[in-house]
Amino acid sequence: MDLMEYQAKELFAKHGVPVFAGETVDNAADARAAAERIGKPVMVKAQVKAGGRGKAGGVKFCPTAEEAEARAADILKLVIKDLPVHKVLVTEASDIDKEYYVSFLLDRANRTYLAMASVEGGMEIEELAVERPEALARVAVDAVKGVDQAKAEEIADAAGFPADVRDQVVTVLQKLWDVFVNEEATLVEVNPLVRTPDGTVLALDGKVTLDGNAEFRHKDVFDTYADVVADDDLEGRAKAKDLNYVKLDGQVGIIGNGAGLVMSTLDVVAYAGEKHGGVKPANFLDIGGGASAQVMADGLEIILSDKDVRSVFVNVFGGITSCDAVANGIVQALQMLGAAASKPLVVRLDGNNVEEGHRILAEAAHPLVTVVDTMDGAADKAAELAGSAA
Ligand SMILES: Nc1ncnc2c1ncn2[C@@H]1O[C@H](COP(=O)(O)OP(=O)(O)O)[C@@H](O)[C@H]1O
Ligand SMILES: [Mg+2]
Repeated sequence: MDLMEYQAKELFAKHGVPVFAGETVDNAADARAAAERIGKPVMVKAQVKAGGRGKAGGVKFCPTAEEAEARAADILKLVIKDLPVHKVLVTEASDIDKEYYVSFLLDRANRTYLAMASVEGGMEIEELAVERPEALARVAVDAVKGVDQAKAEEIADAAGFPADVRDQVVTVLQKLWDVFVNEEATLVEVNPLVRTPDGTVLALDGKVTLDGNAEFRHKDVFDTYADVVADDDLEGRAKAKDLNYVKLDGQVGIIGNGAGLVMSTLDVVAYAGEKHGGVKPANFLDIGGGASAQVMADGLEIILSDKDVRSVFVNVFGGITSCDAVANGIVQALQMLGAAASKPLVVRLDGNNVEEGHRILAEAAHPLVTVVDTMDGAADKAAELAGSAA
């Protein structure tokens, strides 16, 4: 899970990384009140999960509280890299002498952790890495040994931090490593880490990615920072229902059991779609082993609320959950959905108890359901229905 800047900095503060306090608000009047409480010039900063907010006009210096109100109003109207700005952080503005970069991340290619640091922070690090790779120090970090005083000194010296800030940077690196390990992150990045004119080092920006596999150990953090899911966020809604769903850009909704079967279903639908006006799969959805009526209904509900979907292909191989159970699941799901089930469904069942499954679907005789015996035939039918609905 990616965190927003203000959330990342809350975790920084918790582990002793120096940051300015701030307030996160969702309207201009509250931004003004926050600036008044801070009582000094502030920065108003768009809170979206994307970098480059500064360049996009989402980070503004505001000498007065009136200015903070006006700039907050502007920023709350912005869309940065497709992400609408719903919140702004109001935080003290710092004088900056120098901007640095530091990060820790999981280095999958080398099966280890990696520290990166540069005394040329501020600009986008991808650019720096390409244009002046020698200016970005990379130091491998052993997972067991971690970042102790000696390792932090090695990183700071590899990047060439000057003597006047070296000790502070060494301390900050160890505290950021505490964030990385204790919060179970796969990325902790500070860009910029700055030196102020009076020689203080502090983090002005923060980016943290938490490891979703460790969510069960950090329920409180994940719950606090979970996104409020918007109605049009199909993937977010699917995740909330524990469905294994990925939105794609086609028109044929896909439900299957088992990732391999779903993947090959995507292929046959894409192939069949070429004959029917170029329709394509609208999603990946693996409902897994226990295809209960509830799971089927949840899956159908998500797929049917995708406005691009024109037909749905349910492709299930009956194994531990046999075809009659799946057929009952489909029939009950359609009852549960009622009028929300509004698009044609092509069902292909095979495997355990397939005859009984077919009998159940025939008996229910739902007007939207077509049963086709083969996978290729069913893909063709679903693509045809999506093509003709255009
Ligand atoms: N609190 C602050 N005080 C002064 N300048 C800031 C502050 N926060 C950010 N900046 C300036 O704005 C730039 C962009 O802000 P940053 O938080 O890094 O957003 P992004 O990386 O998304 O562009 C920083 O590089 C820094 O120069
Ligand atoms: Mg930044």
